[in-house]
Amino acid sequence: MQRLYRKRIVLGVGGGIAAYKSAELVRRLRDQGAEVRVVMTSGGREFITPLTLQALSGHPVHLDLLDPAAEAAMGHIELARWADLVLIAPTTADLMARLAQGVANDLLTTLVLATNAPIALAPAMNQAMWADPATQANRVLLQQRGIRLFGPASGSQACGDVGMGRMLEADDLAQAAADCFERSLLTGLHLLITAGPTQENIDPVRYITNHSSGKMGFALAEAAAEAGARVTLVAGPVFLPTPDRVQRVDVVSARDMLTACEAAMPCDLFIAAAAVADYRPEMIAPHKLKKDPSKGDGLLLQMVRNPDILATLAGREDRPFSVGFAAETENLLEYATRKLRDKNLDLIVANDVANPSIGFNSEENAVTVIDRQQHETRFSQASKGHIARQLIAFIADRFHQA
Ligand code: C5P
Repeated sequence: MQRLYRKRIVLGVGGGIAAYKSAELVRRLRDQGAEVRVVMTSGGREFITPLTLQALSGHPVHLDLLDPAAEAAMGHIELARWADLVLIAPTTADLMARLAQGVANDLLTTLVLATNAPIALAPAMNQAMWADPATQANRVLLQQRGIRLFGPASGSQACGDVGMGRMLEADDLAQAAADCFERSLLTGLHLLITAGPTQENIDPVRYITNHSSGKMGFALAEAAAEAGARVTLVAGPVFLPTPDRVQRVDVVSARDMLTACEAAMPCDLFIAAAAVADYRPEMIAPHKLKKDPSKGDGLLLQMVRNPDILATLAGREDRPFSVGFAAETENLLEYATRKLRDKNLDLIVANDVANPSIGFNSEENAVTVIDRQQHETRFSQASKGHIARQLIAFIADRFHQA
């Protein structure tokens, strides 16, 4: 389970022999889904090369406060804001002392002062240095300020001593980092969502589509990412920015959408919020269709059924918990209940698109969710963002009960 999925971790590497474990730590954090940026002190660079950590983190290592090239790429204040967690491993006695005093005489200590993210230290030092009253006073001060300490552990040390001061192993540190984040409703789950309309080509310049803006689907993707899910958003042609930490796949037609959804499987939950065209022209004309007076004033377009993406995914052996949308202009609850049954869904979200203040292209929505027992839960009119967060909480709850 990727408990650190898309979490942003600044890993500070201080100057201690335990820095060799930092290389492994970068890998463990990334295995759990985290994005890692490394900041090294000058001491850290004496023990492990920036190149090693650059290769493992996949990003240039930040070294100096006054490096114009690094500042241009991602300045230290930007890095401080970017972080969801600042983890310093190893933290030397000197670093603890400087942090306790609020000294900002290099990039790492400056960043610690500038960040609002939680800070965690993994001390690593000789047992006598750890036991020294000065280090212990610094430890107390740092902990009083809410800085977390991961370890140290006790055991044999590189210098030959035995006692407290060993840095925790990479696996334990990655675990402790994951524990800094609350387990949210959808932590560790993969949620796939479709959004927006589809476009079905008639000829190279014309297509059939619908009024879907994609706003509801995008709001759901954002709310699901906030709730800790790994989110894949398969979007038809819409003009909306990709929500933070969401993996977006753009598609055009219903068949493209199905292919993209199948490629994104397996997933734990599937929400079909797209307004998929039920039919497409049987043939896409290779050239622009011309007016043909011999056929009178009409034009006959032969249409064929598109695959039902939701029914296809909900019918698979590895079927996800499946949630559909029913946008109707009449007999809302009756039609929605029928769809729930016919498409083998767990939940269906019914919305009345005949009401112009909600539904297609509007900023607000009001929906009723129906489950397999035909229980109805109503969410009254509110912004699509608000409805999305309520729906995600409801869906997560039902998923965990299932
Ligand atoms: O049958 P109808 O189009 O009304 O069903 C709506 C629900 O089914 C929506 O959740 C929509 O995203 C999904 N759907 C689909 N593929 C289709 C048609 C609809 O996934 N071809």
